This record gives sequence, C-alpha cells and structure tokens, in this order.
Amino acid sequence: MSVTLISNAQVVRPDGIVQEDVLLDGDTIAAVGDMAPDVRPDEIVDASGLYLIPGVIDDQVHFRDPGLTHKEDLHTGSVACAAGGITTFLEMPNTRPPTITVAALHEKLQRAAERCVVNFGFYIGATPDNLTELQQAERTPGIKIFIGSSTGSLLVDEQEALERIFAETRLPVCAHCEDEATVRANAAKLNGGSCYADHSRIRDHRAALIATRRAVDLAERHEHPFHVLHVSTAQEAEFLRSTSDRISAEACPHHLLFHTGDYERLGSLVQMNPSVKTPQDCAALWDALRDGTIQVVATDHAPHTKQEKSLPYPQSPSGLPAVENSLALMLNSVHQGRCTLEQVVSWMCEGPARVWQIARKGRIEPGYDADVVLVDLEQERTVRNEQQRTKCGWSPWHGETLKGWPVRTWVLGRTVFADGRVDETVRGKEVRFRQS
Ligand code: DOR
Repeated sequence: MSVTLISNAQVVRPDGIVQEDVLLDGDTIAAVGDMAPDVRPDEIVDASGLYLIPGVIDDQVHFRDPGLTHKEDLHTGSVACAAGGITTFLEMPNTRPPTITVAALHEKLQRAAERCVVNFGFYIGATPDNLTELQQAERTPGIKIFIGSSTGSLLVDEQEALERIFAETRLPVCAHCEDEATVRANAAKLNGGSCYADHSRIRDHRAALIATRRAVDLAERHEHPFHVLHVSTAQEAEFLRSTSDRISAEACPHHLLFHTGDYERLGSLVQMNPSVKTPQDCAALWDALRDGTIQVVATDHAPHTKQEKSLPYPQSPSGLPAVENSLALMLNSVHQGRCTLEQVVSWMCEGPARVWQIARKGRIEPGYDADVVLVDLEQERTVRNEQQRTKCGWSPWHGETLKGWPVRTWVLGRTVFADGRVDETVRGKEVRFRQS
C-alpha cells in the first residue's frame, strides 16, 4: 500500500475547482486540502498546470468477452479504458454466450478480476423467459433490455414479457430503445437498405421515440428505476423533460458529435445503433445535457474489426470503439465552448455513480476510492488508428486533433497509466452497487 501526494493540481470538486493537495493512501483518498503534519508520502506528484478529476465511470461498453474476443477482450478493453481516463466500466450482456444467468454473470466477474486493469461491473441481460435469474442476480448494476435488437440475439419486445420484468424484478433497468416493428417495416420498404446512409432511414427518429416512450411508460407505471441508454433524437430529449425522477438518461459522444452528413466521409465507421441523426439532434442532445434532462455521458464502446466494418450494407455490423477517446472528446468540447469542465465531470463521473448507486466513486472527497485522473487541458494530440489500444485497432476519430487529454490515471491508488504507457499488471476490483 503506497501513499501518494498529488500537489498543486486544480482539483475538480462538486462545488468548484480549487487548487489543493490530494493524498491517496492505499486505495482511498485520505485527505483533500489540509494534510496532517506527519504525512510521509512514498511519492509526491507535482501537478502544477494540470487538473485532477475523479476517474471516469463508463456505464455502457461492449468488451466481447467471452465469445467474440477477436474484436476485444476484457484485458484489452480495460487497458484502453485506463489510457482514456476511465477507471470503472459497466459492461453489456450481449457476449457469446450472453450474460443472462447468475452463473454467467459470476463467470464474467471472475474473468474480469483476473484480467482487468480498471474496476468493473456487468449487467444481466433480459430474455422473454429468464425472470428467475433476473430476480436472483445481485452483484450487478442492473438489468439490460434490448427492446429493439442490435448486435447479438438479445431481444424482448413483447408487451407481456416487458410488463413482467418491470413488475416482478427490483434491480434498476436500462434499455436499448429502438422499436423493432418500426425498424423492420422501414427495412422492408428499403429492401434491407443498400448504402450505409440507409441505416439512419431504417433506424429512424420514430423508432427511437416509440421505444423510449414505451419503456418509460412501463417504468413509471411499475415505479421502477429506469435508465434510457444512448438517447439519439431531439424528440426523445423533449419527451424526457416531462418524466419523473426515477428516469435517467445517457448520451454518447458519437451522437453528440457525428450526424448523417458524416456517412459520406466515414461510411460504416459511423454506423451504429441507435443510428446517427441530424445536426439539429446533436444540438438538442447538448441542450438536454446542459439542462439536466440527460445526466450521463458514456461511450457504448462497440468494437468490430476493420474487415467486418468494410462489408457492404447491411452486412456491416453496427458499433464503434470509443473508450480511449471519450474523455478527450469531451475536454475538446470544453475548448469549443460546448460545456465546462465541471459539467464533463458531472456527466462522466458523478452522474453514473449516482444513477447506478456506486458508493465512494465519482468524486474527489476524503473516504472516496482513489480512482483519479490528471488531465492536461492544453495538450493537443491527433487520434491515430495505429496508436489505439482497443483490439479492433481503429477509431472513427482517426486524424482528428483533440485538445485536452488524460495524462495519468490511478485505479484504487495505483498508477495504471502514465507517460503514455499502461501498466498491464494493475488489477481493478468488482464494483459494489446499492451499498449504504
Ligand atoms: O451499435 C451498436 N453496437 N449498438 C449497440 O447497442 C450494440 C453494439 C454492439 O454490441 O455491437
């Protein structure tokens, strides 16, 4: 257990940014500001000119392990997280086999404990008939429902099955909201689609809004905590303004920054579910973040190989990798005047900790876990495919120069990323949810 004093950083805390010292003692933030006179740190980090933020909690990633590890695995995905300033990820159940039983969930937790350099948690996936598993699951942030199908076979779109899940389980629920019937009807009209841009015509605004309304209706009637994943349209954002406090929502950097005009330049690299929409939708999502309608920014990191992505539409799979760049994309957005650094911390650190009831994470406070990230707001770096740590080895932001990067990441008091290198021997821990 080592003691680290981070001195002279601009520390981003809920009530503002203050230059003060932060002491990490073992896996805990021991002090912020005033230090005991007898403190003897093993290391003193002079962080002059840098900002210290809580480690990012990414509440939506797909790491493909088990079953699709040619795209990513728990180790490579976690290494990419560390370099991107993400100290905790929550992973989705659409692996092979899918995480739809307590046994599969526990197996994933065991694999992650052996392989991951950052902290981790795993959702349990809903099927039309795994209610007992959903009722028995404990070591999980919650239940993931694919109300519309995406990558993999998970889908629950029959009303009766959805009613049962919301009525008879107690874990929080999150959902992929795209209406299956609308998507299928749109696809039929376009004969399945013949170019990447058809993806946004098939997975259109209506599909997103219908499914989000339907899921929120279920959650409100059954008084169930519910999180809308990857909101992509202005209409959903407007609808979410009038929902109750039990409803939370998330936006992803790709829906904030890409739009249908990008298909021409990037083709299948911006093909994802939900699809990208218009520049007006991007602007509406930013507004919804700024006014608190959407509380979380997460990546939906969904790696596929370049070869898979180069298939013609509709064989090309949906999804893009983002964990290494999401924080930098948001810090770059601070420079562009879209948001403040405090808002980035609220959406990427405090917000997910609050939504998923993760104790002692998401803030820099004495007694909190020593998951912290030093950020250089002035550093400019160009995203390059060949430098990506994700196993798929590409980024849709290749060639873009971003200003503002994480330069050092601690996970439970241990340096996992510094000087451009990830220490692959560090191990994160299983995250605990709903602890008092
Ligand atoms: O584009 C997507 N890809 N959206 C999802 O929700 C799933 C993901 C995947 O797993 O490939």
